[in-house]
Amino acid sequence: MGYNVAIDGPAGAGKSTIAKLVAKEKGYIYVDTGALYRAMAVCFLDAGISPGEKEKIIAASEKAQVSIRYENGVQQVYAGSENVTSRLREEIVGNMASFSSAIPEVRKKLLKLQQNLAENEDVVMDGRDIGTNILPHADVKIYLTADTATRAKRRYEELVRKGLPCDYDKIEKDIEERDARDMNRETAPLRKAEDAVLIDSSHMTIEEVVSEILKYCKSNT
Ligand code: C5P
Repeated sequence: MGYNVAIDGPAGAGKSTIAKLVAKEKGYIYVDTGALYRAMAVCFLDAGISPGEKEKIIAASEKAQVSIRYENGVQQVYAGSENVTSRLREEIVGNMASFSSAIPEVRKKLLKLQQNLAENEDVVMDGRDIGTNILPHADVKIYLTADTATRAKRRYEELVRKGLPCDYDKIEKDIEERDARDMNRETAPLRKAEDAVLIDSSHMTIEEVVSEILKYCKSNT
């Protein structure tokens, strides 16, 4: 049995940054489940499908073959035999993923894959429904959030650092819309598991959040 740390929370709460650091500190594997939904989205977009075309998404999700490999310890995501990792952060892919992840058939397709990854390995897995649905018996469950303005500001600063064009108001609106879709969908909506520890990172540094989470993890022997 692997030791499982589940970190859930809304978009832009810093889950991946934090989860990667916790994994590194403990020597566990970091699993970014959003990347799987994004890889499915790449398949749908490549098939010429738009976010609203539910029936086409359902049909295409049956055929989609998404998988994860670890190359030099870094997660690589494949759609069939194509490594799609470099495409995952594209805006159009994130937008499709936000819509298509609400479709039960898409979630079902990725359920076992995520559970298998955690079964025999020590993992830090981040997502939206890991503690509630994918790994309900995870050893540690964290619900990591921050207020909307803080999340929008972090995202804005990240884009500015990368020299990419961005508009603060649009980013904030986008975050609000993604939260609403994640929290209000019928299948596995985003919510804090009853036994998850709530961490609001609005006024915390990355180091503070990491050390808080490490307190709940078993110590290395
Ligand atoms: O976390 P990230 O932004 O990469 O996730 C992409 C999309 O996939 C999100 O908008 C969310 O709707 C969805 N997702 C999900 N369940 C997960 C991880 C991501 O529904 N476990």
